[in-house]
Amino acid sequence: MKTIHVAAGRPYDIRIGGGLLRELPALLTGICGERRPRLALITDDRVNALADGARRPVPDLQAALEAAGYPVCKFVFPNGEASKTLDTVQKVYGFLSANSITRTDLILAVGGGVVGDLAGFAAATWLRGVSFVQVPTTLLAMVDSSVGGKTGVDIPEGKNLVGAFWQPSFVACDTDMLSFLPAETFADGMAEVIKYGAILDESLFSLLEAGAPGDRLREIIARCVDLKRQVVEEDERDRGLRQILNFGHTFGHAIEKESAFSVTHGQGVAIGMALMARACERVGLTPAGTADRIARCCALHGLPTRTDYPLETLCAHAMGDKKRAGDRLTLVTLERLGKATLHPVGAAELPDFMKGGAGR
Ligand SMILES: NC(=O)c1ccc[n+]([C@@H]2O[C@H](COP(=O)([O-])OP(=O)(O)OC[C@H]3O[C@@H](n4cnc5c(N)ncnc54)[C@H](O)[C@@H]3O)[C@@H](O)[C@H]2O)c1
Ligand SMILES: [Zn+2]
Repeated sequence: MKTIHVAAGRPYDIRIGGGLLRELPALLTGICGERRPRLALITDDRVNALADGARRPVPDLQAALEAAGYPVCKFVFPNGEASKTLDTVQKVYGFLSANSITRTDLILAVGGGVVGDLAGFAAATWLRGVSFVQVPTTLLAMVDSSVGGKTGVDIPEGKNLVGAFWQPSFVACDTDMLSFLPAETFADGMAEVIKYGAILDESLFSLLEAGAPGDRLREIIARCVDLKRQVVEEDERDRGLRQILNFGHTFGHAIEKESAFSVTHGQGVAIGMALMARACERVGLTPAGTADRIARCCALHGLPTRTDYPLETLCAHAMGDKKRAGDRLTLVTLERLGKATLHPVGAAELPDFMKGGAGR
């Protein structure tokens, strides 16, 4: 088991290892001591129903927590991004109220990024804030959404537009849970893993170029968590450096949106990284050959790198991105593999930049 300490405004540990769900009662006692707070377990229906022979991770976890003396109540909502809404949060509030969850109790989020973001937001706002523990169960949630304290939900006007910074008390990544993931969902997480290599760690990128993670998966997850930790510690509130984590995301989000979300987040990010690297190569911001390496690496991990959507359409979506500041947009470019830089462009120059016309 590996432990990474995050020195955020409210510090906490992230544990990574196989079989961690079984150890969770003991790990919770590490933060609760003799106290036995009520646990409000929040998960989605798919995660709740996962089963492998006699093993049923979430019901087993609930039984083990109860055996350790924790009273547990459980809220299960339909899986998928469509549930990440204020309507579901409202239902969670009803559940927390019905079970008399107070500020001394604990919310336990077990699931992917949707569960973590939604339960985290409920934790941030219920009674003006109760503690919460994250148990991420997708690769994406382990390497990305459970690190850094961003919580939130979607509204019809856009994704993640309503939220709060709210750090968990503890994060437990049980890598055994990844054995249940469909290949496409695993690949979605790999897009973020490749992103970390591209923006911060060339040796990680080279490792990924060598093929599937295999038995180095835990080490790779720990490396990604540690990279995000460093960025978050320096810029917890997303005012500067943290923006490099958006590499590939401006156009990734545009592609997701244009496809009415039939292109997944990871697929969009993979295409977005390749698009951005190609544009930056053409204007001399990124060394030649970088985009090809990114595209090959993404393809190796089951991710697409091209899109048929017209650049103008994608640029129009990008201008509507919430990360835009006034009439300027901050692009994340690569000085080289392993080193990202922020590059502001005027919104009007974006199509030209993406075609390689900028700077001429
Ligand atoms: N807070 C942040 O900093 C941050 C960062 C990145 C992404 N996000 C958010 O994360 C969300 C995406 O996360 P996600 O990709 O984990 O999506 P998700 O939570 O929807 O999970 C994807 C699917 O996998 C299922 N699943 C979860 N664990 C499983 C397992 N072990 N085995 C089999 N199936 C499993 C889920 O039920 C769901 O159907 C988005 O809403 C995004 O906005 C947040
Ligand atoms: Zn992402």
